[in-house]
Formats: sequence, structure tokens, C-alpha cells
Amino acid sequence: MAEITKKPVGIMETVLRDAHQSLIATRMPTEIMLPIVEKMDKVGYHAVECWGGATFDASLRFLKEDPWERLRKLRDGFKNTKLQMLFRGQNILGYRPYADDVVDAFVEKSIANGIDIIRIFDCLNDLRNLQEAVNATNEIKKREGRGHAQIALSYTLEYWADMAKKIEEMGADSICIKDMAGLLLPYRAAELIKAMKEQTNLPIQLHTHYTSGVASMTYLKAVEAGVDVIDCAISPFALGTSQPATEVMVETFKGTPYDTGYDQTLLAEIADYFAPYRDECIKSGLMNTKVLGVNIKTLLYQVPGGMLSNMVSQLKEQKAENRYRDVLEEIPRVRKDCGEPPLVTPSSQIVGTQAIFNVLLGERYKMATGEFKDLLRGNYGQTVKPMNQEVIDKVIPGEKRSTARSAEATGHTEPELATLEAEMKEWKKQDEDVLSYALFPQVATDFFKYREAQQTKVDAAKADTENKAYPV
Ligand code: CO
Repeated sequence: MAEITKKPVGIMETVLRDAHQSLIATRMPTEIMLPIVEKMDKVGYHAVECWGGATFDASLRFLKEDPWERLRKLRDGFKNTKLQMLFRGQNILGYRPYADDVVDAFVEKSIANGIDIIRIFDCLNDLRNLQEAVNATNEIKKREGRGHAQIALSYTLEYWADMAKKIEEMGADSICIKDMAGLLLPYRAAELIKAMKEQTNLPIQLHTHYTSGVASMTYLKAVEAGVDVIDCAISPFALGTSQPATEVMVETFKGTPYDTGYDQTLLAEIADYFAPYRDECIKSGLMNTKVLGVNIKTLLYQVPGGMLSNMVSQLKEQKAENRYRDVLEEIPRVRKDCGEPPLVTPSSQIVGTQAIFNVLLGERYKMATGEFKDLLRGNYGQTVKPMNQEVIDKVIPGEKRSTARSAEATGHTEPELATLEAEMKEWKKQDEDVLSYALFPQVATDFFKYREAQQTKVDAAKADTENKAYPV
């Protein structure tokens, strides 16, 4: 009998980031996370994803929490487990490209406050928009021996052949296939992983969502084809628009060469901890049971679920629901015209809205949105495939187009950290505050005001204690 080589698959647990971002609009507060950290730290996860993506904005805006403080508390609790974050390339965690000095500072502070692995992606898969964040991570790794740059490519059906090699040459430590809509099918995943493994020795991690119902089969085939790490969520925050369930994947690979070795009893205790919170979220309506089912339209039309529901509500507003099919057919054509970008925020909205315009106005590109024009101008960076010249001539006739990366295309070439700090210095209590302000100027300022008010309240309470009027 041939000897079986053991190749345990790693699992990244997403319950503290993507799972609650996908199921409860990123509203899980730090106080729910902390009591279970000690147990989670014993599992032996490849990593726990706990920061970045929408968590930063949601903490400041809705939870009135300092995201940096959350990270430090999680770091304190996770003594043995690597912590991972999601980073939007030159946009960091915000909605515009930043100058390189802000990107560098953000990477440095993320690692200093506890992040080990930074997953970096760009909405157009323009690798130049990732390079500065990768360089900054590698710089810190050289200096301090900590930090890992993972480059994530948004999954589309096209152009995967030579990407793995390019990513390796950029200085990444690992590669992630980021299938945000759950479009990657099981057998296609096996082919893709096999092809990428032939090109690179870098570890490959697969990230998908359960939206279309195929995700755990996709993981099974990907693991058999040699993928190194899969992203899963503990069962109360799994499935639907979130990830496949951790316990299910662990059980699936038990006794095989891919056995994770994780303790199911421990995982059950973690699930038991989150289960009542899930119930609470369903009861309050924070978790909509609609997102827990299978959205098969995602597969039929190759369009992410979120984009379909946006489209339906836009058409309803225009009293044009009967044009649904026409718009669905127009989406791939618009996507082709603008260089086949992945359908991920914000390109999904840009393509979707333009498709609606094209159908409802009865003439393609009779009118274009400002964002669609910016996409054609090159302000988001370059698409991997070329754009349609006829469409460019019609929508932005005679305009100069940029071929630079997004920071240059939009004029963010000079250092801007000092200017940002000068604008907010009255609120600064820690260096990290400047970065919170850089990303969300208004939201961060509101938070700083709130924080100050809380501080005053605490002081008043203290005064009361001194007067022995404070009930203990
Ligand atoms: Co995701």
C-alpha cells in the first residue's frame, strides 16, 4: 500500500470578522468576543480573522468603539494564534486611494497593535494598487521579524493562468483566492488550485461564501487539489452569505491525510457560546433569516447576491421591474466594455447601475454615471482586460485617461499624513487616532467627541465616589 503523506489543512476562523460582517452587518461588539477568546486560542487555527474590512468603520460609526482598542484587547487574549486582517490595497479600509505615507503608517500600526497576517486586495485586481501595502509589510518583517503579506485576487472566470507567478514576484508570502460571491464551483476549484500549484510554491488560501450553496463542496475539491488553508466560520455564524461551518469541515477531513487535528469538543463549546448571541440577533432582526438560505440566482447569472437585490430595488424605484431580465443580460456586456472587473464593491455597483441606465434609457451609454466615467478614466487603476474603445469615445470623448495606479490617477502622490494630523490634532490621544481620522474624517471626529464626553462622565463619577455618594 502506498504511503499516505499527511497534509493537514489549515482553517482560518472568520467569526470575528467576515462571518459577522456577512450576517449581521458587522455589528458584533468587542464585549461579545472577549469571553470566548481563551477557548478559541486553544483550537490551533491557522489564523483568526478579526479586523479590517468593514469592522473598522462599523466600530467607530455604530458601536462607538475604538477599533484599535479592540485589536489590542484581542491581541492580549490570543497568546498562540495568528491574527489576520483584510486590507483594501491603496484604499486601506476606506473609500478613496491614499498617499503611500498613510498606507505605510497604517500597515505599521496594524502590526504594532497585534496583526500578524495582512490580506491585501484591490477591487480591479490591479496589482499595482497592492504593491505599497505589500512593501510596507515586508519592510516591517525585515526589521522586526513579524508580518505576513497575503495577496488576494478577487475571483472571476477569466485570466487566472499567469497570476500566481506575478503575485510571487511582488513579494507576497501567500496567495488568497477571494470568491466574495460564492461563484467558484467544486470541479473548477480543483482545476484552478492544481494550475496555480504548478506555478508557485507559495501557500494558497481559499476564501468563499456559502451564498450559492456550493461552498463546502468547493472546499472539499480544493483541499484534495492541494489548497493549504480554507476560511470557515463556527456553525452559529456559518452558511448563508457567510462561510462554510468550521466543525463540518473539521469532521469531513477527520482520519484523512488532510485531518486538521482540531478538537471537536472544544469547537462545540465555542459554538455553544455563540449560539445564544445568534438567537438574539435573529430575534432583534439584526440577522435576517433571508440571507441564511441558498441564492441560486448567483450561480445562474454569475452576479453576486447583494448586487441582484440592489438591482431589484433600483428597478422597483423606477417602476421598471419588468426589465429585470434585460438588465441581467446587459450586466455581462457592460462588464466586458469596462475591462471585465470583478464584481466586488465598488465595481459591482458601478456596473449594475450603468446596466440599468443602458436598458431604461433605450440606448446604450446615452447617459453614464460619474463613477462609470471615473472607471473609464482609469481613476480606480487598470483593469486586467482592455476596455471597449467605442464606449470610451462615446462616454468620455476626448478626455485624457490615466494608466497609472489609483493613487497617482487621482492625484494622491504627495505625503498627506502631516496635513491630516494638523486637521485633527485637538482630538489626538494616540498616534492611531490620526489614521482613524484619515479613513473616516467625519465618523472619527464624531467618535472622538463621544469619547471625550464619556471621559468627562467617568470623571464626574469619580468625583461622586470621592464624596462617598457613589453606590458601589
Ligand atoms: Co468574504
